[in-house]
Amino acid sequence: MSTIYYTGCSLDGFIATTDHSLDWLLTRDIDQSGPMSYGGFRERIGAAVMGATTWQWILDHDDSPWGDLPTWVLTHRTFEPAGAVVFTADPVEQVHAAATEAAAGRDVWLIGGGDVVGQFHDAGLLDEVWLQYAPVTLGAGAPVLPRRVELRLEEVARNRDFACVRHSVVR
Ligand SMILES: NC(=O)c1ccc[n+]([C@@H]2O[C@H](COP(=O)([O-])OP(=O)(O)OC[C@H]3O[C@@H](n4cnc5c(N)ncnc54)[C@H](OP(=O)(O)O)[C@@H]3O)[C@@H](O)[C@H]2O)c1
Repeated sequence: MSTIYYTGCSLDGFIATTDHSLDWLLTRDIDQSGPMSYGGFRERIGAAVMGATTWQWILDHDDSPWGDLPTWVLTHRTFEPAGAVVFTADPVEQVHAAATEAAAGRDVWLIGGGDVVGQFHDAGLLDEVWLQYAPVTLGAGAPVLPRRVELRLEEVARNRDFACVRHSVVR
């Protein structure tokens, strides 16, 4: 079981524009059953964790229900209840333990944003970083991982518009 940050980003290391747009990412061509695609990745996942702004983006932009993936949203805000989603301000160690138990041997997906993933790294709980680089620079926005994190390059692949890279975290 691994704890994996899997996300799309711009060439200059942003996961969203300053106004939280993902148009630059979601308009690109990708083979959903190709190398390092979401389809294959999703099959490995048993639980997920994200920050409140990412959850708000999903509420604002995604009409489909989140589904039954056990999910923790780190937040101090009050959100409407949503299926298997837990809203919490517990320490990341506790959230990770709960997500790992719920994942039952599968991987835990850290969806983002970058500082949430950084908090897991600070606690020694981040194992892998998978990035899909879109062929665009944004100049500013939400940073992919605003920490110094030492990584080992494990895998590189092209998936249509995307350069896909998998790293393990060096401890
Ligand atoms: N490119 C992609 O595939 C991708 C993936 C993920 C996200 N995104 C986008 O990237 C942007 C991410 O923005 P972001 O990094 O600013 O936001 P974020 O991580 O989604 O959310 C940050 C917020 O989460 C809450 N939070 C964080 N750590 C916490 C903790 N330890 N305990 C309790 N609450 C905590 C805080 O909100 P409160 O205190 O106000 O509750 C904080 O302001 C969004 O636009 C998102 O849609 C893109």
